[in-house]
Amino acid sequence: MKLAVAFGVLASAFATALVAPEPPLTYRDVKPIFDKRCLSCHGADYPGGNLRVDSYAGIMKGGKHGKAVIAGKSPESRMMKMLKGTIQPRMPMDTPALPRAEMEKISNWIAQGANK
Ligand code: HEC
Repeated sequence: MKLAVAFGVLASAFATALVAPEPPLTYRDVKPIFDKRCLSCHGADYPGGNLRVDSYAGIMKGGKHGKAVIAGKSPESRMMKMLKGTIQPRMPMDTPALPRAEMEKISNWIAQGANK
């Protein structure tokens, strides 16, 4: 009987963990993608389009066309348009497009408010 109760408690704890909403994505979640695929052209030495992605502040500041990331508005954000190629040149320039999972991660990060 005791065992059954303990099992019930465990099972409900599991259920809670499963339905608990995931915390919103933060800059830490997307930074590895920027570091790996964008930094070579968007760092201090060569900020392509005047955009630096080596810090949260740099990303949020934007580039020569203004804001690249509009918090909460992923489809409207220039960064997403360029990752998808609806604004040329497609990013990352001269290299294969980001895999879908990475594109979605950046898109969700922006949609969830581009949190630091
Ligand atoms: C091989 C170099 C290269 C790589 C890699 C690269 N970019 Fe770019 N990026 C550029 C250049 C050059 C421009 C300016 C293009 C222009 O205006 O004609 C630019 C412009 C941009 C802009 C527009 C800035 C503005 O205001 O005009 C965004 C946003 C951007 N890149 C995002 C990214 C992201 C995100 C990645 C990584 C997934 C990336 N880029 C990887 C070279 C690169």
